[in-house]
Amino acid sequence: MNDSATYRHSHTTQGYGETYEAAYGPSTYYGQLWNTIERDLVVSTLKQIRQAGAEKCLDFACGTGRILGVAESVFDCTVGVDVSDAMIAVAREKCAKSKIIKQDLTCSSLQDRFDVITSFRFFRNAEESLRNDALRSMHRHLSGNGYLVANIHGNPCSPGMIALSARSLVSRGTARTISKKKFERLLTNNGFKTEMQINYSYLPRIGSFFPRWYRPLMGPFEKALPNLPLLRHISESTLFVARVV
Ligand SMILES: C[S@@+](CC[C@H](N)C(=O)[O-])C[C@H]1O[C@@H](n2cnc3c(N)ncnc32)[C@H](O)[C@@H]1O
Repeated sequence: MNDSATYRHSHTTQGYGETYEAAYGPSTYYGQLWNTIERDLVVSTLKQIRQAGAEKCLDFACGTGRILGVAESVFDCTVGVDVSDAMIAVAREKCAKSKIIKQDLTCSSLQDRFDVITSFRFFRNAEESLRNDALRSMHRHLSGNGYLVANIHGNPCSPGMIALSARSLVSRGTARTISKKKFERLLTNNGFKTEMQINYSYLPRIGSFFPRWYRPLMGPFEKALPNLPLLRHISESTLFVARVV
């Protein structure tokens, strides 16, 4: 695999930050999911951790600052790191309170240690070796008993990922997925203990075909479906809270 094909280089093309932001526009699936479910979930999780005494937060692979922006509304000290100038340029405009560093923490470390590290939309598409390198690095950068708040967004049993895998079969590609069990195992192998899992993102991404009825339904559906026990297996995304052991 050449360098430009690795996940480390996947978001480095000039202008990629703006493209990424557009995917989170208010009329997109991801924008609606963020506005109806995910932002509140991240805010309430980080607030609980803040109340438990955490003060310093690092957002690993901060991208355009989507999660970092939330973190800086909760914590006084926030740092974002990413390897892409294109993504960081947007984050710097949005997250004025945070220190934002271009660095690959899997290759070199910061002096600082943090009480909480966030990492979103990273683990599904990262290669297996990068997943492990990243978790080892996060472990090194956390204070004893520190918190990792991360999500995975590619459960192979979710309707969205089943559809993607079927499409990939036809086009002879491969759909990257990661199951909750697999991620929990990665966490354990890299010195973390999972404390909490919150499932979300149940509806498949068919909204662009039926935007008029899909948009108003997303909020109520996403809030009701987690209460049905069997459905927890088919959510596309899961937020994990894990602690250093
Ligand atoms: C899908 S984006 C997620 C951005 C942000 N966390 C979010 O949830 O919106 C993935 C990010 O991972 C970054 N990345 C990839 N490999 C990395 C590494 N080794 N260290 C730091 N960031 C990395 C990419 O540059 C990209 O900005």
